[in-house]
Parts: sequence; C-alpha cells; structure tokens
Amino acid sequence: MDTRPIGIFDSGVGGLTVVDKVFRLLPNENIVYFGDTARVPYGNKSKETVTRFSKEIVKFLSSFKVKLIIVACNTASSLSLGALKKAFSIPVIGVIKPGVEEALKTSKTGRIGVIGTERTISSSAYEKEIESTGRNSFVIQKSCPLFVPLVENRWLSGDITLKIVRKNLAPLLARNIDTLILGCTHYPLLKKAIQKIAGEKVRLIDSSIAVAKYTKHLLDNKNLRGNTGKTYAKFFVSDDTEGFIRLAKVFLRRNIKAKRIVF
Ligand code: DGL
Repeated sequence: MDTRPIGIFDSGVGGLTVVDKVFRLLPNENIVYFGDTARVPYGNKSKETVTRFSKEIVKFLSSFKVKLIIVACNTASSLSLGALKKAFSIPVIGVIKPGVEEALKTSKTGRIGVIGTERTISSSAYEKEIESTGRNSFVIQKSCPLFVPLVENRWLSGDITLKIVRKNLAPLLARNIDTLILGCTHYPLLKKAIQKIAGEKVRLIDSSIAVAKYTKHLLDNKNLRGNTGKTYAKFFVSDDTEGFIRLAKVFLRRNIKAKRIVF
C-alpha cells in the first residue's frame, strides 16, 4: 500500500478529463493536479517552451512526494515526455502509449485516425508510437484547432459545432478509418458530436480512459495502490482560480477548490 498522491498536470483545465477517469477507476488514490492556466494553450507552442513549462510543473508536483506523474496534456506528452523521463527519477506516464494500445486493440482494419492540437499532430507522436509496434496499419492525422475553444466555451452540441466537427473529420472519414484517437484532453467532451458525425462504425478512443487504465495496471504491478481510507484531491493553477473552478464543474460535474501558484 502506498498513500502518496498521484500527480497530474495539463496546460489548463482539459486534464480534468483524466482526473475524472482516475477518480472513477482509482477511487482510493490521492491526487494533486496542476493546470497551467496562465500559459495555456500549449497546442501551438514550441517543443522547447512546452518542455520548459512541463519541467517546472513536474518539479512543483514532486514537492508533494508524488508516487507517479501523469502528463494529461497530449501536447506535452507528444513533445516533452522523453525529456521529463530523463530529467526526473519519478515514473512519468504520458497519454500517447495508452491511447495507441487501446486503438490497436480496438481497430479491426488497422485504419486509424488521430486528431489533436497543431503541435501534437505535427510531432506525429501517435503515428510514430503506432509504427513502433510493428502492427500493419494506416494512420491518418488531422489537427482540429477549433475544438478546444468549442469545449472551453461549452459549445458541445448544436448546428455550428456539428458543422465544424464535420468539416474537420471529413478527410479522415474519406479514408475509411474504423478507429479514431481523440488525441487532446478536451475532445472527450465533444464525444457525442464526434460520434454523430463519424457514425457508429467508427470507434472513438478516449485517451483519458486509456491512461487511467494504464495507471491502474502500473500501480497494481508495482504494488503501489493507495489505501481505502479518506482521500483528497488538491488543485493548483497558475492564473486566477475563478475560471478554472467554473470550467471544472463541466469537466468533473462537481465543485472543487483551487489555489493559485506562481513559480
Ligand atoms: N491540453 C492540450 C492537449 O491535450 C489542449 C489545450 C492546449 O492547447 O493547451 O493537447
């Protein structure tokens, strides 16, 4: 048994999709979350910048004696995971590998679509991870920069949202994908709209579920599971807490408290 908390971070509020799944799958774990709300978005920033920010955050989370860290942000996972693993001795998990494993288990035809931020897509992190498995596959990627603002403004359904989703998914659907990786923290909130446009034949891979399952396996294998007693979840942000707390209600369907931290 290990009651040390799990550290989770994201560029902002989106990583709460991962917190939500960890709450459900690992209800006996303590959590410390950091959302870099002052410097969001990461999706259009350089590798160097995202890695610098990520290192600062891992350092901060380490001060809570976390037993492992989940990089909930797809962009930071794509650009900075290698550097974080090198720089810190704590286990650091990204969302790419778990998402890919789930997609490969799900896909029957090997025709896999990946959507994400500009930087996630231009890094080809998902494509490279799929290739590294040696599985016979065809990967088609597309950045969907409008999806994050849709979610942050709670435009989760309706005609305009469906139109934007349709336009963005068109090139992937034209290539007959049977599986679509939602490679961004925010996209699980658009699942209904995406499924509606993609049709029932396309299976959606929610990397927040995949990484929560992966974390559970890892904790089991290393005998690091938490206790059954009272747990806590602490939330920290780098900008005002107000907007974060408001959006957290959409992501977590519960009220939370948060504290602002300036590095
Ligand atoms: N959290 C980011 C991701 O998953 C999306 C928001 C951003 O661009 O920072 O890639």
